[in-house]
Amino acid sequence: MKLLVTGGAGYVGSNVVWALHDRGDEVVVYDNLRQGHREVLPGSVRLVEADLADAAALDAVLAEGGWDGVLHFAALSLVGESMQRPFFYLQENAGLGFALIDACVRHGVKRFILSSTAALFGNPDTTPITEETRIDPGSPYGESKLMIERALHWADRIHGLRYACLRYFNAAGADAEGRSGEDHRPETHLIPLVIDAALGLRPEIVVFGSDYPTPDGTCIRDYVHVSDLAQAHLAALGRLDEGSVTYNLGSGTGHSVLEVIRSVERVSGVRVPMRIVERRPGDPAILVASSARIRAETGWAPRYTELDEIVSTAINWRRAHPNGYGNEG
Ligand code: UFG
Repeated sequence: MKLLVTGGAGYVGSNVVWALHDRGDEVVVYDNLRQGHREVLPGSVRLVEADLADAAALDAVLAEGGWDGVLHFAALSLVGESMQRPFFYLQENAGLGFALIDACVRHGVKRFILSSTAALFGNPDTTPITEETRIDPGSPYGESKLMIERALHWADRIHGLRYACLRYFNAAGADAEGRSGEDHRPETHLIPLVIDAALGLRPEIVVFGSDYPTPDGTCIRDYVHVSDLAQAHLAALGRLDEGSVTYNLGSGTGHSVLEVIRSVERVSGVRVPMRIVERRPGDPAILVASSARIRAETGWAPRYTELDEIVSTAINWRRAHPNGYGNEG
C-alpha cells in the first residue's frame, strides 16, 4: 500500500511507520517536526516537513496520487494545556483535521485512520470502557478528537471515505529493537517520568493523589504497548473494505500509579524516589478499555500483556537515549 502518515515522526506515529515499513508498504511521513524527530524514521521513508495548516503543501503531496490511505496522528495532545487554550486546541486539532479530511476527499483517498483517544469518555462510571460507553469528553482535547470522529462519519456517508477511529488508552513502551521510543518535550506521561527517576535523570516522581476510590488510592490506567497499537492500525486498515470501524484499544488490564512505580523498580533494580502530592485536576480514577470489538472483528490481540514487559522496552530505549532524540552528539 502507499500511505501518507501525518505526525509520523511522533511517538505512536513512528511506531506505526516502522510496522508499515516492515511489511513493505510505501510510506510518506508528513510532519512539522514540532514534536516529531527525524532520526526516528526508517532511512528509506520520505519526510515532507510541513504543517497541516500549509494547505498548499498538503495539496501538493496528495496530488501526487495513488494513495491507498491516510493515517492521521499529527495533533496536540496535552489535556491540561487544552483546558488553558481551548480554542487553540479545537482549531489545531479539529479545524486542521477537517481540512485534512476534506483534502483526502478531494484527492480521492478511500481510507483514513484516526488516532483517537480515551479522553472521549471523560470520567466514566463504568469499567471496562466499551465503544458503547457514553461519550462525554472532559476537555477540549477530547472534544477535538470527537469532532474529527464525527466529521469522518459524514465523510463516509456522503463521500464513501472508509475510516477507522482508534481510541488509544495509555500508549506505553518502545519498539523492542529500539528503533523508536517515547521522547515528548515536555514529558508529562507517567512511565517515562518514573523511568527517569529510576535512572537518575530526574530527582523523583511525584504521585498525583493517593485518595482515589481504588485499592491503593492511586489512579488506574490501561497501559498498552505502542507496538501492539501499531499492529492494531494494520488490522484496522485490513478491515476497512468491509466498512468503517471504531475501536477502543487497550490491553484490558488496569495498573495503578504505585504499581507502575513498583514495576519500574523491579525491572531496573533501582528504588524510585517518590512523593505523593495533590490530585492533578481532571484525572479520572479508573480508565480501562474493553478491546473486545477489535479482537472479535480482526483477531488483533496485544502481545505485551505484562506491565513489566512494557516497562522493560521503555527502559531499554531510555538507557540507549538518555538525552532523547537530537541531543546525542
Ligand atoms: N501521574 C502521576 N505523576 C506524574 C504523571 C502522571 O502520578 O508525574 C499519574 C496521573 O495522575 C495519571 C497516571 O499517572 O493517573 C497516568 O498519567 P499520564 O499523564 O501518563 O496519562 P493520562 O492517563 O493522564 O493521559 C493519557 C494520554 C492522553 C489521553 C488520556 C486519556 O496521555 O493523551 O490518557 O484519558 F488523553
